[in-house]
Amino acid sequence: MSNVDYLSAATGIAQDAGRLLEHYYERRIPYEYKAEFDLVTAADRASEKLVVEQLRSRFPSHSIISEEGGGIDKGPEYVWYVDPLDGTTNFAHGFPAFCVSIGLVHKGELIAGVVYDPLRKELFSAEKGSGAYLNNRRIHVSSAGALGEGLFATGFASPRRHLDVNVYFFHQVSMLTHGIRRAGSAALDLCSVASGRLEGYWEFGLKTWDVAGGLLIVTEAGGRYGDMKGGPYELGGEHLVATNGAVHQEIVGLFHEIFEGRYRVPITPLTSSQV
Ligand code: IPD
Ligand code: CA
Ligand code: CA
Repeated sequence: MSNVDYLSAATGIAQDAGRLLEHYYERRIPYEYKAEFDLVTAADRASEKLVVEQLRSRFPSHSIISEEGGGIDKGPEYVWYVDPLDGTTNFAHGFPAFCVSIGLVHKGELIAGVVYDPLRKELFSAEKGSGAYLNNRRIHVSSAGALGEGLFATGFASPRRHLDVNVYFFHQVSMLTHGIRRAGSAALDLCSVASGRLEGYWEFGLKTWDVAGGLLIVTEAGGRYGDMKGGPYELGGEHLVATNGAVHQEIVGLFHEIFEGRYRVPITPLTSSQV
């Protein structure tokens, strides 16, 4: 079976799961806690069940790793990474930004990725070497060449948030660019970089299922990703930055300074007249 078949299978499955999420979303279902501040809903589980069952029936020899634990281990050759609902906190609050994300890794290399946003009916997809698409239209990263001309996104992981140092990065980037969006779905953030809506996105502590669908879409759209220190990003790595390529060196340079505790723009302390 060629990559094209993998991609079309993943596309159909992501759309089915997206339609399911939409039905749950209209009903405003309750949420539960997996851990402190880490939400889950019946929609996450139902979407996972659908995706995992369909992948298993079509690719019985492949492994599946899915966020809510419904996967199966068939060895390392082909591994599907599934986020059945990326943006659960948004979904639980009725904030309209969430998606289904599916990525396929073959012998350690991403070969297909699909991210489906059911509310906007936007299907982002890519297969290795064949470009990136939004609803069958080819997409490309933006051409903005400087941080000062860019719009960026980031996120903050729910678990262990007291250890998250991202607020320092958030402040510097927000002072030096057109601004930052924190829309609440890593997969959609990556697709926004791929489609030229954002110049870059970074985050600490991402899981492979958050990004496996979107990373190939970024590179196939002409973008670039790595770790925030300028090295390669391995799936499951500590931190990730994805950009349009043109601003990559500049943002990594800024991050380097922040990692060293140097801030170009100091945080203004609150004065008594402001509080
Ligand atoms: C989360 C979202 C969010 C990101 C978090 C992820 P979930 O995934 O992608 O934007 O900031 O790090 O955990 O829990 O909604 O699937
Ligand atoms: Ca996620
Ligand atoms: Ca999820």
